[in-house]
Amino acid sequence: MNVDGKNYRTIWFKSDDSDVVCVIDQLLLPHQFVVEEINSFTKMVAAIKDMKVRGAGLIGAAAGYGMYLAAVKASKTKDFEKEFINMAYILKNTRPTAVNLAWAVDRQFKDISSAETIDEKLKIACKTAINIADEDVACCRQIGLNGVKLIEEISRNKNGETVNILTHCNAGWLAFVDYGSATSPIYEAFHRGIKVHVWVDETRPRNQGANLTAWELLNHGVPHTIIVDNTAGHLMQHGLIDLVITGADRVTNSGDAANKIGTYLKALAAKDNNVPFYIALPSSTFDWAISDGLKEIPIEQRNADEIKYIQGLSNGEITKVLITPLNSPARNFGFDVTPSRLITGFITERGICKSDRSSILKLYPENK
Ligand code: MRU
Repeated sequence: MNVDGKNYRTIWFKSDDSDVVCVIDQLLLPHQFVVEEINSFTKMVAAIKDMKVRGAGLIGAAAGYGMYLAAVKASKTKDFEKEFINMAYILKNTRPTAVNLAWAVDRQFKDISSAETIDEKLKIACKTAINIADEDVACCRQIGLNGVKLIEEISRNKNGETVNILTHCNAGWLAFVDYGSATSPIYEAFHRGIKVHVWVDETRPRNQGANLTAWELLNHGVPHTIIVDNTAGHLMQHGLIDLVITGADRVTNSGDAANKIGTYLKALAAKDNNVPFYIALPSSTFDWAISDGLKEIPIEQRNADEIKYIQGLSNGEITKVLITPLNSPARNFGFDVTPSRLITGFITERGICKSDRSSILKLYPENK
């Protein structure tokens, strides 16, 4: 995507040193745009845990690159296999909810299993990291081309009046390698000249909506308005939302979807107000092994300080301030699960389907 006239992905190998991975430090957005160079496995683990890189698709890609850095580190030890397996375990445990991360680690394992020499393993791990990122871009692009049909239809029904779309968290290009999932159909509609406007949930506690989605849309010139997390129900009651599109971190084979905390409440409000509620996701976000989202999807709980302190710009400096009584306890659940019955459908790279097992498997028959 375009930042100040320059095209960026969210993760790439440094052009003159493939042992260095470049990422955009998302902790500094929207105030500073800084590219960070990650030159070790340990630094990649920290970047994922601390959310310098975040978002299901991007942490999948980061895990792909992380496994390459793990292979580099393991190649300098006496026992490649043992060290590589240990590091894979560490990576998988950095963030538990988004399945893309574990998927990318397993994919690296599978791909390098055929290699006989360490050199071969390194070459394959490097190629696989690039492939995972490229495939993420291709999937997100296709999600845009498929999802735009929904926006076109609403626009037609409204005789070309503005289509108002609600999104939650950041499922934009910053959460993937490029394009995004939920935002990809929106960017496509915007490019086609369809009038769109996006309601951006701020998405407490980390404010991915207010900090990241808004920054993306602004950069791109897409009309948008930031709202506090509790506003959407009111807007729906007054006919001000035509469509909800969010991303997902893990979707079961029966269509239950884990996404950023608060998504479930949007889905309930959408159901009550007959607003279509879609989830956009690439196939790497499906967890084909599970069917009961409430029981089987692990929900990440993060440090309570993310609730108690808020980050912003003050006198040109990025600062954190305490916004609660210092000694009040807080609990920070990162995600919730929206049951399939509340989801109108999924927008995937293979097309749009209803949120039930047989419709999902019609698109992905190889996972039957
Ligand atoms: O910022 P994160 O990594 O905690 O949040 C995960 C997400 O990106 C969102 O839940 C998003 O909507 C899923 S789509 C990438």
